[in-house]
Amino acid sequence: MKRIGILTSGGDAPGMNAAIRAVVRVALYKGLQVSGIRRGYQGLIEGDIFDMNVSSVGDIIHRGGTILQSARCLEFKTEEGLQKGLEMLRLFNIDGLVVCGGDGSYKGALKLWENGFPTIGIPGTIDNDLGYTDYTIGFDTAINTVVSAIGNLRDTSSSHGRANIIEVMGRHCGDIALHAGLAGGAESIIIPEVEFNVDDVCRKLIQGKNRGKLHNIILLAEGVGKPYDVAELITKKTGMDTRVSIIGHLQRGGVPTAFDRIIASRFGSRAVELLMEGVGGRAVGIDGNDIIDVPLEVATKPNDRLNKDMYDLAQMLSI
Ligand code: ADP
Ligand code: F6P
Repeated sequence: MKRIGILTSGGDAPGMNAAIRAVVRVALYKGLQVSGIRRGYQGLIEGDIFDMNVSSVGDIIHRGGTILQSARCLEFKTEEGLQKGLEMLRLFNIDGLVVCGGDGSYKGALKLWENGFPTIGIPGTIDNDLGYTDYTIGFDTAINTVVSAIGNLRDTSSSHGRANIIEVMGRHCGDIALHAGLAGGAESIIIPEVEFNVDDVCRKLIQGKNRGKLHNIILLAEGVGKPYDVAELITKKTGMDTRVSIIGHLQRGGVPTAFDRIIASRFGSRAVELLMEGVGGRAVGIDGNDIIDVPLEVATKPNDRLNKDMYDLAQMLSI
């Protein structure tokens, strides 16, 4: 292993820059050369590849987004696209590749590995939807953004005595809604992993109103969808005025939290070590406070885990 490549792919996530910095600096420290690949698999196919040095990753640890940029590249899903990628890796003398992204990006990394090219995945997505790792880079920052939004909306919710429905990201995973809802003291949390019962939500709203509660925050995961229909249904059943806020891409940016920077740095370092040990086809993650690695086949398995204890706690605390 003389030269490694690094790319970020799929939806960007705050903390990806800290991961890039760790990969580059640890690799250089250990005597490797590093190639940066811009715009994920799109840049790989096009040969948008450049040499990185210590300064390439200076002054980025605190920045959201990714200096390597990201992309969703349909061509890479085809056999022809994959072969183009492999050819570029050969042309640029890259011996191993670190891919920072979500499950789609991991599927691409797995295909490269199945074609004999060593790859290591770093979990970079705000969704926290990879079942093998407790946390993905960007999730902590995203939930803090949502908690801050809940604070603002709670003020206006109280002033008007409304029910405010907040739709948050997460694809098919309810983790952003669950964690931010618990931290923000939401009255109801609606996630794809638990069957939605509008009567439960309405009962809570009415009970809260009867005991003088002014604000009502309902956190809705995008995987459930239809926030305006939910709002209309609540108004119909309770007579309460409702408003919908879709936070959207605000959750994808911003200054990464210390937690995200720390796990990103630890993941980046471990990814380089694995490649140097001659290991490929694996993804790094965190279990408790331990850095782990699992086969990419395992890391790309659909995730149906739900932290039931946390969900039940949020329910108890919002009676
Ligand atoms: P994320 O990595 O955040 O889940 P995507 O699902 O959009 O985001 O995947 C990012 C990129 O990974 C895709 O645009 C594509 O280039 C690549 N990718 C996704 N699925 C596959 C697949 N089955 N085979 C090869 N590449 C894939
Ligand atoms: O995977 C991250 C994510 O932000 C999801 O939560 C969301 O569904 C999706 O990406 C949005 O994708 P795009 O940025 O392409 O609109």
